[in-house]
Amino acid sequence: METSKILNGKDVAEYINHKSGELVQKLKAQNIHPGLVVILVGDDPASAVYVRSKGRMCEKLGILSATHTLPATTSETELLELISNLNNDQAYHGILVQLPLPDHIDEQKIIEAINPLKDVDCFHPKNVGLLTIGTPYLLPCTPAGIIEIFKYYKIATNEKDVVIIGRSNIVGKPVANILLQKSEFANATVTVVHSRTKNISKYTKEADIIVAAIGQPAFLTADMIKEGAVLVDVGINRVDDSTAKRGYRLMGDIDYADVYEKCSAITPVPGGVGPMTISMLMRNTIQATIKQTDANL
Ligand SMILES: NC(=O)c1ccc[n+]([C@@H]2O[C@H](COP(=O)([O-])OP(=O)(O)OC[C@H]3O[C@@H](n4cnc5c(N)ncnc54)[C@H](OP(=O)(O)O)[C@@H]3O)[C@@H](O)[C@H]2O)c1
Repeated sequence: METSKILNGKDVAEYINHKSGELVQKLKAQNIHPGLVVILVGDDPASAVYVRSKGRMCEKLGILSATHTLPATTSETELLELISNLNNDQAYHGILVQLPLPDHIDEQKIIEAINPLKDVDCFHPKNVGLLTIGTPYLLPCTPAGIIEIFKYYKIATNEKDVVIIGRSNIVGKPVANILLQKSEFANATVTVVHSRTKNISKYTKEADIIVAAIGQPAFLTADMIKEGAVLVDVGINRVDDSTAKRGYRLMGDIDYADVYEKCSAITPVPGGVGPMTISMLMRNTIQATIKQTDANL
């Protein structure tokens, strides 16, 4: 299979991680040690896997990391107290609360309790607002990862018609906000479609670039796109597969085999947007460190 169509997120992540590692060394030479603290509440296995891989990546890049693993019965007050302590802990420049949280905890209240300067996920309303008005503090990780893929593969977005499928606060809306900015690798005409859109194909068929972020396996098919479209697949769906060792395999929101011939470029799942998210988290931790200290770079 020809590989030039594949937008390989692992390659892009490796390139960025290398630069991040170099920055960490420069900071350490100034006695500044970037630190990320992750809070995991409950025993969701997928969340535990994500948290472990974040810790491993910190270690690889020389970032100080700590994980607070709390039982599912942790109260909202206890979690707020921990966040308040970490907000004042100079050792950590980034705080990440792994979502989702147990139902009895108000997720939004927790997000708003994090010091915006340490909000490396960029979910705090202050940081969402700064992004919306075009003066971001940091960029949220998954959307930033998509932009870095465009940069690495020189996929221009200027003047392009982009359709985003999905309007979540984590992916769809921030991707739209970033691509609307008046800057390079933005300046796009953005349409966001979602579960209440009457005829999604009507929009996707006209799009130069499609970003799919809905959590529905193989939703986007060849008949929904135009010839030569660039496709970004954010979806991570577990589908049963008795031939796979784990009994399931990962599938994106795009029907990869179906669209492959018709599109001009596509991010695979796994190995596309996924590796970028963690890479951007590392970069955000380093950037947050620089902004909170008197680093001289
Ligand atoms: N690669 C990564 O690092 C990464 C990071 C984050 C998320 N993800 C994956 O990306 C996917 C989306 O994540 P998310 O957090 O954005 O999900 P989410 O919060 O569940 O939002 C899903 C969005 O998709 C829309 N939607 C759902 N079914 C639809 C359908 N049949 N047609 C049109 N729109 C539909 C929903 O519309 P309504 O608003 O109308 O309900 C909603 O806006 C998931 O598979 C997730 O695992 C991957």
